[in-house]
Amino acid sequence: MDYIQPLKWAGKKICRYHEIDSTNMEARRLAEVDEAHGTVVVAESQTSGRGRRGRRWNSTEGAGLWFSMILRPDILPEYAPALTLVAAMAVTKAVERMTGTKPGIKWPNDLVLSGKKVCGILTEMNVGQDGIKYIILGIGINVKAQEFPMEIADIATALEMECNKKISREQLLAAVLAEFEYFYEQYMQTLDMSLMLEEYNKYLLNLDKQVRVLDPQGAYEGIARGINSTGELLVEREGELIAINSGEVSVRGIYGYV
Ligand code: BTN
Repeated sequence: MDYIQPLKWAGKKICRYHEIDSTNMEARRLAEVDEAHGTVVVAESQTSGRGRRGRRWNSTEGAGLWFSMILRPDILPEYAPALTLVAAMAVTKAVERMTGTKPGIKWPNDLVLSGKKVCGILTEMNVGQDGIKYIILGIGINVKAQEFPMEIADIATALEMECNKKISREQLLAAVLAEFEYFYEQYMQTLDMSLMLEEYNKYLLNLDKQVRVLDPQGAYEGIARGINSTGELLVEREGELIAINSGEVSVRGIYGYV
């Protein structure tokens, strides 16, 4: 894919900030005052960058690409969670094209290089009585070489720490937006992952690996066999395939981060 701008809707309007609390929070504020589908908020640094499961997201000034996009899909709320896997697919493709490295996906949506996390995705949804009001898709990609906080130093990396070239954050943003527009439209055609299922599973680092499923009903181990068309991870346990939903449980590798 050639990353030719302008795209149809992704990033048609880009709001840029030097410092902000969180691009997800700013995108949400804009969405509340009717900002359009596809509008992007990007910042050099975030003072309260947010990660999944209430964690903090390290967002040092200039060290990465921190951005969020407003989505207003006309779909039922149950079709929304898979969009985070669609985004992972888009970022993976963009990173592969821009860096020449082979990124992998740790289900459902962490992007991994050399066994370490390089990108995280946080999707937040606001649903009203008439369905989805908006979705905020937040993406954080570590780009520049940096010292990570002690608690993530062993499991985090950055694009320039893994490939021997400078990566323009502006071009990376353009690449991710182009790939996302493409995969989002594929998803909207079928309302499932079927058109990108094979591709996603090719990048899935958990594939055929032993995983530990942290189910609130009780943790267990099994072999990951790829995702199904709704984005659930299929885990084989005692000859039975169990479909794991990312909203309910998380999955850990048995050895190391992946
Ligand atoms: C994760 O925990 O893996 C998700 C991290 C998501 C971080 C991004 S950075 C841009 C956007 N703004 C935020 O506050 N969080 C997301």
